[in-house]
Amino acid sequence: MTEQTQRVFSGVQPTGNLHLGNYLGAIKRFVEMQDSYECIYCVVDMHAITVWQDPQELSRNTREVTAAYIAAGIKPDEHIIFNQSQVPQHAELAWIFNCVARMGWLNRMTQFKDKAGKNAENSSVGLYAYPNLMAADILAYRATHVPVGEDQKQHLELARDIAQKFNNDFSKSIKQAGFKDGFFPQPEPLILGEATRVMSLKDGSKKMSKSDPSDLSRLNLLDDAETIARKVKKARTDPDALPSEPKGLDGRPEAANLVSIYAALSDQTTADVLNEYGGQQFSVFKPALVDLAVEKLGPMGAEMKRLMDDKTYIDGVLAKGGEQARAIAEPIMDNVKRIVGFIRAK
Ligand code: TRP
Repeated sequence: MTEQTQRVFSGVQPTGNLHLGNYLGAIKRFVEMQDSYECIYCVVDMHAITVWQDPQELSRNTREVTAAYIAAGIKPDEHIIFNQSQVPQHAELAWIFNCVARMGWLNRMTQFKDKAGKNAENSSVGLYAYPNLMAADILAYRATHVPVGEDQKQHLELARDIAQKFNNDFSKSIKQAGFKDGFFPQPEPLILGEATRVMSLKDGSKKMSKSDPSDLSRLNLLDDAETIARKVKKARTDPDALPSEPKGLDGRPEAANLVSIYAALSDQTTADVLNEYGGQQFSVFKPALVDLAVEKLGPMGAEMKRLMDDKTYIDGVLAKGGEQARAIAEPIMDNVKRIVGFIRAK
């Protein structure tokens, strides 16, 4: 690539019930990247509708994610926060990528297989093509770095393959347009480290999920202090005391999960936490975790609620972010059209 800004792009789907897993696994990392990169954080409403969403809920959930971004510490005056559908270049580039990506590539996507299950025939075409839209999200800004959880790694690899195939398929035209080393960069995954896979409070082998029928399985970002305390107290554990070293957590998924949540919320390693709590019973550790979770999540939830009540502000942030995002994506998409051979009005 020719010299390029180091640009971060990532997105969260507005499908409701934001929980601790979304915060520790994604949003908290987004916050940390603001000092080192130019960041674009998207609320991916077009991804959300790959499965049916109630329109009113979709709007509400879009504002919820936006409020979470801001309450967690993403600064809308320094970085870009917007909802995907306000920038038409995502859909435009996704169409081109539908024509670059191969059926065989998409057939390998494990998330589609998991989500569609036996019901593939009845899934939306959008759910199947979703990884192409995700590639378009990233590459419409020629973003270089993408913070994602483990479950999105395969989609990011697909985005790299699409970028490369586009660069190859159109290499002559890309050179003619004045780009010496290909048009799209290879976006790098920033795979999120320790404690980013937050597991269910009821089953340490399952991911914390908004779709788990039991609300006790997760800490929602909008839970109040009392609810947080109740859920942590009811969280599944085992009868043993905490070990003094991380290796002692092997084969103890529930204990490992609670310790890693504590570590992530307090910005320590699990080793640090076990240094302090090794040898202690859950009757000691759980109240400490409640205090920490209430201290960290309480103010954030309250701020989210305050922001969600201020629709004018939230919608204003999204509108301004959308405008800034379009200003970056438009000239890139203009070049893509020229490279592909589409005739455009001057
Ligand atoms: N697919 C991602 C998820 O479900 C969300 C997403 C959409 C995304 N577009 C993206 C993440 C682009 C990173 C970059 O979590």
